[in-house]
Amino acid sequence: MICEGQVVRQLVPLLALMSVKTAAASLSAFLPTISHRSAMERSRFMAGVTRRLSSADASTSTGPPPRGTAFVQAGSGGLGIAICKELLRSGYGEVIASHNRPPSAAFQELLDRYGGGEHKRLHQVHLDITDEASIEAASQWVEGSVGAEGLDLVIVASGMLHPSGRGETSISKVTQADLQRTFAVNCVGHALVAKWFSPLLVRRSQRVCAADRPPRLVNISARIGSISDNRLGGWYGYRMSKAALNQLTRTLSVELGKRNVCVFSVHPGTVDTDFSRPYHKNVPEEQLFPADKSASMLVKLMNEASMEQNGRFFAYDGSEIPW
Ligand SMILES: NC(=O)c1ccc[n+]([C@@H]2O[C@H](COP(=O)([O-])OP(=O)(O)OC[C@H]3O[C@@H](n4cnc5c(N)ncnc54)[C@H](OP(=O)(O)O)[C@@H]3O)[C@@H](O)[C@H]2O)c1
Repeated sequence: MICEGQVVRQLVPLLALMSVKTAAASLSAFLPTISHRSAMERSRFMAGVTRRLSSADASTSTGPPPRGTAFVQAGSGGLGIAICKELLRSGYGEVIASHNRPPSAAFQELLDRYGGGEHKRLHQVHLDITDEASIEAASQWVEGSVGAEGLDLVIVASGMLHPSGRGETSISKVTQADLQRTFAVNCVGHALVAKWFSPLLVRRSQRVCAADRPPRLVNISARIGSISDNRLGGWYGYRMSKAALNQLTRTLSVELGKRNVCVFSVHPGTVDTDFSRPYHKNVPEEQLFPADKSASMLVKLMNEASMEQNGRFFAYDGSEIPW
């Protein structure tokens, strides 16, 4: 069966000679003779090809081709906003960002820039990662928005160091309630996001060719979740929950890898956000990244990922971190 990617690759050179509309119309006449698709499937397929062709046409003047729709869970956090901005800049057709608390002023600014008018490219949806019903409702809203095209990229970014904002320095400081809260936000919720959103990635993988970039699920983890890298100790709840998140990544990569969906964990570096603010004075200036810098490196990594990256853990610069 032919896929959108093959068709778009064949038609892009023709765009230099004819308009997107003419190229798509020629294909439309040809398609029924080469496929057994139903009329409705053909119409959806053509909508996808035309959208990707328009993007490819636009890309000749504005940079790399768009890559469908991305969903950024916690898209209004410090790193989340920078990631949304970078995805839009790097050519994604649309970005859907979730927030739990009312969106920040910085996110509102981004919405004003990309979320209005006819060519709305940024959308927002509410999602509380500690509440499965909220995750399910958000996934249904996203499904209603992307339809048969599915999602090209899912990034799960929510995280907390500790309910107090400061990690435990000794086992004597650990409490049951703090651990439960930290696990809920840092890894239990990520499993539920994968449960409700991965069908949209699998749907996308059925529409792309093996040669195309696979749909990706990326968990924002932290180097501190690496068991073999742990020499400093401390920050019990955060370390334990990020290690559990990494195990989720690895386990998902086995299941979803069979459906041509690539799953990996990333470490964003030490990033200048509310999350790390209590510790800024201990971090050498050159090691504290502005959120935009970290996001730009992470999005590059995500855009270049193939199934080679499935089931692995990478730092912002592409270097591999041992589990
Ligand atoms: N900053 C760093 O130095 C650093 C280093 C390593 C790893 N990381 C990781 O990077 C990720 C992003 O962190 P950040 O630096 O951007 O911190 P941040 O600005 O504090 O953002 C944290 C995000 O988590 C979300 N969140 C918290 N509780 C939630 C809930 N119940 N439901 C849904 N979302 C919830 C927040 O959403 P709302 O605001 O809507 O509640 C916010 O978007 C985290 O996973 C963190 O562990 C950060």
